[in-house]
Amino acid sequence: MIGRLNHVAIAVPDLAAASALYRDTLGATVSAPVDLPEHGVTTVFVDLPNTKIELLAELGAASPIASFLERNPGGGIHHVCYEVEDLEAARARLQEHGARVLGDGRPKIGAHGKPVLFLHPKDFCGTLVELEQI
Ligand code: CO
Repeated sequence: MIGRLNHVAIAVPDLAAASALYRDTLGATVSAPVDLPEHGVTTVFVDLPNTKIELLAELGAASPIASFLERNPGGGIHHVCYEVEDLEAARARLQEHGARVLGDGRPKIGAHGKPVLFLHPKDFCGTLVELEQI
C-alpha cells in the first residue's frame, strides 16, 4: 500500500539555524520558510535526490510540535511521510487492522497542498506516520 518515502520531518527550535546547517554545512538545496497557520508550523523543505527533509518550527501559541520540542529541546525526528495512491482506501485498510488515525480521521491538506492523514505513533513502532496522497 505505501509507496515512496515522501519526507522525513525534523522539528527544530531555530529554523534559520537549521536551514543554514542544511544549506551551508551539508550543501543541500533549502527552500524559503513557509508559514502554515492551519497546522501551527513553519516549514522549510530540503530537497534531496531521493526524498525531502521537512524542517518544522513552532508557529503560534498552540503548535502541535510544542510538546515535542519541550521533550526534545535540541530538535529531533518528528515524523516520516509515506506516499499512497488512495488515502480513503488506505484509511479503510488501516482501520481494518486496528491502527488509529489521528484527529477526526478525515484527511487534511498538508504542506504540499495534498491530502494527508497522521497515524498514531504507538501503532507504528513509536513513530508518527504521515500518509500523503500523491
Ligand atoms: Co510532513
